Amino acid sequence: MQANSVVGRIFVGRQSQSKNLTREREPYSIFTRTDCVASGWYWLMPSKSLKRNKVIPANIVGHELAVFRKESGEVAALHAYCPHMGAHLAEGKVDGEQLRCFFHNWCYDDKGVCTDIPCVKGKAPKAVTTKSWTVRESHGLIWIWLGDDNPAEDIPIHPELKGAAYDYSVGNFFIKNCHPNVVMVNAIDEQHFHTVHNLPGDVLNMEPRRITSNHIEFKNTGTIPNTNAFTTTIGKLYKEALTYNLDYWYGSTGTVTLGPDFLHLYLMFALRLSAGGKTEGYAVAFAKKPTNMLQVILNPFVLLITKLAGLYFAKGDTRIFNSIKFDFKTPIAADHSVLAFIQHLEKQKQFYCAADAS
Ligand code: FES
Ligand SMILES: [Fe+2]
Repeated sequence: MQANSVVGRIFVGRQSQSKNLTREREPYSIFTRTDCVASGWYWLMPSKSLKRNKVIPANIVGHELAVFRKESGEVAALHAYCPHMGAHLAEGKVDGEQLRCFFHNWCYDDKGVCTDIPCVKGKAPKAVTTKSWTVRESHGLIWIWLGDDNPAEDIPIHPELKGAAYDYSVGNFFIKNCHPNVVMVNAIDEQHFHTVHNLPGDVLNMEPRRITSNHIEFKNTGTIPNTNAFTTTIGKLYKEALTYNLDYWYGSTGTVTLGPDFLHLYLMFALRLSAGGKTEGYAVAFAKKPTNMLQVILNPFVLLITKLAGLYFAKGDTRIFNSIKFDFKTPIAADHSVLAFIQHLEKQKQFYCAADAS
């Protein structure tokens, strides 16, 4: 199904609503689905949870894995169950750069090729292979590529940080009682900043811009009103619009950019779909590498403030995320950013969850 037609039908639904209040919308091809996600990079686990020469089990949208860190420090991931008799490979042990099954000690390299069967003399039969997954590490997390093709893009990182030296700090693990796409659109839902977070109603005006087929940016073009001495002073920190920008990848990882022109704060929300259509995630704060001694001292505080800002806004939304049954029946013009998010997400490639994922 084409994304344009999906959003088009949503609008038709709104216009015809007075005639037919019970009209069913057609399902989305990705947005809020629990049987598939957009093909792309997703966080798998924090880097620090996987020590050198260790293997641990993991689950990503219902797919079970054995993830191991080789002696060299590189990370690899194989389908969880041994192609011999189905023992869980996370019960095995890392053998140099490879993984050895606990049950009969067959050995697999990081491509999933069996390289040794101890009771068989010579090389293992070529046909014995298992699925390997593409995994990489960046900014404190191990990421996995969910897709049938090879990854065409880099792991999500804000364009202002790409190629730059930066510090980062991974926050606590969190769960939200709703779909990751619903958590993501909250940050561009202009109406709720007024009603839930008590911001003045006209400060935010989010303009969407497609960066790539998997990356969309929403840039605030609203300015701080000159209503009193406080807002006038704050307004002086911003040459043009109040900085509040969102960058989204795959509808599940987003980075919010905040702060005055001289100091941008970046907070990434790396989310993934979990069982029951819920969200599991980590927040990661970023700051550009210090260039002088003062910044070296200040950078840990910048990272802390960034995480605290994220917590403040997340706290306000907890009531929504805990109880919402998302059903976007009546879009209005003020929902234009949410619709742009959906339209962009719907054009991305699907990656199917394992059958028992939800
Ligand atoms: S089940 Fe893994 S080696 Fe036999
Ligand atoms: Fe919010």
